[in-house]
Amino acid sequence: MSKIIVKKSPPLKGTIRVNGSKNSILPILAASLLSKEKCILNEIPDLKDVEVMCEVLTSLGADVKRKKRGIIEINSYNIDNYEAPYELIRKMRASFLVLGPLLARLGRARVSMPGGCAIGSRPIDLHLKGFKALGAQIDATGGYVNAYTEKLTGNTIYLDFPSVGATENIIMAASLAEGEAVIENAAEEPEIVDLANFINNMGGNIIGAGTKTIRIKGVKELHGAEHTVIPDRIEAGTYMIAAAITNGDLRIENVLTSHIQPVIAKLREAGVYIHENGDHVRVNANHILKAVDIKTLPYPGFPTDMQAQFMALLSVSKGTSLINETIFENRFMHADELKRMGADIKIEGNSAIIKGKNKLAGAPVSATDLRAGAALILAGLIADGETEITNIHHIQRGYAGIINKLKNVGAKIDLIEA
Ligand code: EPU
Repeated sequence: MSKIIVKKSPPLKGTIRVNGSKNSILPILAASLLSKEKCILNEIPDLKDVEVMCEVLTSLGADVKRKKRGIIEINSYNIDNYEAPYELIRKMRASFLVLGPLLARLGRARVSMPGGCAIGSRPIDLHLKGFKALGAQIDATGGYVNAYTEKLTGNTIYLDFPSVGATENIIMAASLAEGEAVIENAAEEPEIVDLANFINNMGGNIIGAGTKTIRIKGVKELHGAEHTVIPDRIEAGTYMIAAAITNGDLRIENVLTSHIQPVIAKLREAGVYIHENGDHVRVNANHILKAVDIKTLPYPGFPTDMQAQFMALLSVSKGTSLINETIFENRFMHADELKRMGADIKIEGNSAIIKGKNKLAGAPVSATDLRAGAALILAGLIADGETEITNIHHIQRGYAGIINKLKNVGAKIDLIEA
């Protein structure tokens, strides 16, 4: 089994460039199915999840070409299959995002139901509520969602929770519907805005993305478009913590600081120096950091995707911190792994109480999900001795080039391939 070995490292110093956002790319790739013309996407990192979504598009009949580094061309003229089977969906939940575009484009979709995962049960009821409101007939039995429609028609859809995926799937379905759809209590994440910008570049008519109310006026057809995805705010935040936890000094480039304000605020509260400067941030620390409390919330609140990495940092900060996870019911699997490294963490329901320790010790640990894996790398950078991380396929899903990026700024980290 491949693994990552991290040794206690000196303070990290230098520059790291952030890639395009994984969670923007996945819905945008799905949205390319909406047009019969060629779409060109820029700033696409080599990630396992991107590969899987490209496989899904290909299986539906799209012609997907990886051009020179970072560019993907998709031609969805010949979409001739409306089924995304279990074999593909089980590799990545986000492939469920093809349902909205398939329904809009073909009036029919059969997509395997995504199961639960390491961070919670992750239902899809809000996606289905949206499709039904737009006029689709849904049969969700036998492990598949079968959706049919003569035509989709605009309607008002209130989301009981501002689900990112449901907002994206409904936007995509509604973009080719007749009339206007309104999503109330929509997710406001920057990735939603990026998706809406892409669809608008294709000739769509979406207003209000990035606010709680999104209005989508359906158009007859969408044309091809070229789009550069936004920088990955979670990758940026992860490297900011790498600087903080090692008491290092990193310049992190290709960052939209407006997207990571809660992370910046909490790091500053912990005592980290952060200089925001156009499209980059400089992050440094030279002392023991302070405990801070965190509550994960939908955007613009503190992102759940940064919770695990913060837990690693707070494990070695002075004082007791409280983390309240409100987005996913079971997103504390990394706590047990951090405890193997000597962290003092107690889980009570959806809260974690972390008593900061002076040091951690390297241990064999397992990456239970993507962000958990990132947290273990961060902890390994300051733990005495050697940390051996297994199940690293999770990390490879979302952090392109992480080993080399960290090595280049002084980290003692190696990938041992099986
Ligand atoms: N939910 C429902 N019903 C639904 C949909 C969601 O109850 O129909 C619940 C979920 O169970 C969860 C909450 O709503 O408790 C939030 O789920 P959401 O739909 O917002 O999440 P998602 O679209 O499945 C995306 C990201 C996640 C990120 C969450 C929250 C992608 C591909 N994934 O997931 O990213 O944690 O939003 O911000 O965009 C990651 O990158 O590590 C990751 C897990």
